[in-house]
Amino acid sequence: MLKTILLLSLFLYVQSSSIVDVVFTVKNLSTNDRLKLNFVTMITSLFQHTSTENLHLHVIGDFDSHHFVEQTLHTLQYTRQIDKLNIDSLTTKYQQVIQPLIRHFSSSHTYYKDPLFFLSPFLHRILPENISRVIMFDIDLRFDDDIQHLYKLFDQFNQSQIVGIARENQPVYRHLLWSYRQENPHTLLGNPPPNGTTGFNSGVLLLDLSKIRQSTLFNSYLENASLIQHLIHKYHFNHPHLGDQDFYTLLSFEHRDLFYILPCHWNRQLCTWWKGKGYDDVWDSYFNCNNDQKISIYHGNCNTPLPEKLTLEKHEL
Ligand SMILES: *[C@@H]1O[C@H](CO)[C@@H](O)[C@H](O)[C@H]1NC(C)=O
Ligand SMILES: *[C@@H]1O[C@H](CO)[C@@H](O)[C@H](O)[C@H]1NC(C)=O
Ligand SMILES: *[C@@H]1O[C@H](CO)[C@@H](O)[C@H](O)[C@H]1NC(C)=O
Ligand SMILES: *[C@@H]1O[C@H](CO)[C@@H](O)[C@H](O)[C@H]1NC(C)=O
Ligand SMILES: *[C@@H]1O[C@H](CO)[C@@H](O)[C@H](O)[C@H]1NC(C)=O
Repeated sequence: MLKTILLLSLFLYVQSSSIVDVVFTVKNLSTNDRLKLNFVTMITSLFQHTSTENLHLHVIGDFDSHHFVEQTLHTLQYTRQIDKLNIDSLTTKYQQVIQPLIRHFSSSHTYYKDPLFFLSPFLHRILPENISRVIMFDIDLRFDDDIQHLYKLFDQFNQSQIVGIARENQPVYRHLLWSYRQENPHTLLGNPPPNGTTGFNSGVLLLDLSKIRQSTLFNSYLENASLIQHLIHKYHFNHPHLGDQDFYTLLSFEHRDLFYILPCHWNRQLCTWWKGKGYDDVWDSYFNCNNDQKISIYHGNCNTPLPEKLTLEKHEL
């Protein structure tokens, strides 16, 4: 009886005090007004919907960006300690393992060559062992919901799922898989939701670090670049250029079971760069996201402006 009560109170204690570890990366923030605005929008909307008591921030960045983040947090009267991780020392420390990813996944585009865009697969090594789950996100987001609700989705992962990630909202991977799809006309790879293996957008990531640390399968891809090379050949995955999301996407072609697919309202991407570029017949099936459901996170990718709050509220009424 006593044991039951003790267990129960422990359970309630754990339930009520869930601290959410969040990670984001910032570079060149202090010298770029657009990035500054993105960051301020992201952090203000985060604090508006989630009690700061429940957040622990880990900020990967350069010296000047950290300074700007701290100043902003001070202005917003955020008083908790933040965990600052220096991007340059991380890059040096993990160079051996990050370089192969950069080499394989940044063929044409120069912007996504920065190691910054390849750190997420290594967070389970970067962060201390006592951190078991983190949410990592880009800074071009706006939160319209409590991040604790997102964190709860970790409990929906089944045994094999170790990364939570939303589908890419444009037919990017349909395009990159063009020659594979020619040879395999019945493949689901590159197909739209709900049944296709669409490919991912890494703007919002749920990383179950404990499970990732234990996954020999996942880690084998980080340690042995020839395994990635093999998949790139197998799927004719030519010209990937979008950083870590290319890595997760390629891995999902072979090991779909590793990924929990986040509902699209947790990463509502707004970029329409691929619209009018030959995929108009299928565009909607990639781009649409629960027209009648509330969006929880807007993602202004490819510099797309976020929708005004006011018009949204009007629209919702
Ligand atoms: C940061 O700025 C440096 C120097 O201007 C530039 O080379 C680099 O590509 C920038 N990185 C990012 C991620 O913006
Ligand atoms: C986790 O470990 C770090 C050192 O690796 C320590 O500084 C920190 O206090 C620990 N956090 C908790 C919640 O135990
Ligand atoms: C986890 O769920 C996915 C998708 O529903 C399924 O394909 C996979 O077999 C499941 N894995 C386990 C271990 O239950
Ligand atoms: C998706 O798969 C389900 C189950 O096999 C099927 O009933 C449904 O028609 C499929 N949807 C599309 C759009 O292909
Ligand atoms: C890396 O993977 C290849 C298969 O592509 C395998 O032949 C090789 O032995 C592996 N190397 C190591 C060091 O495990």
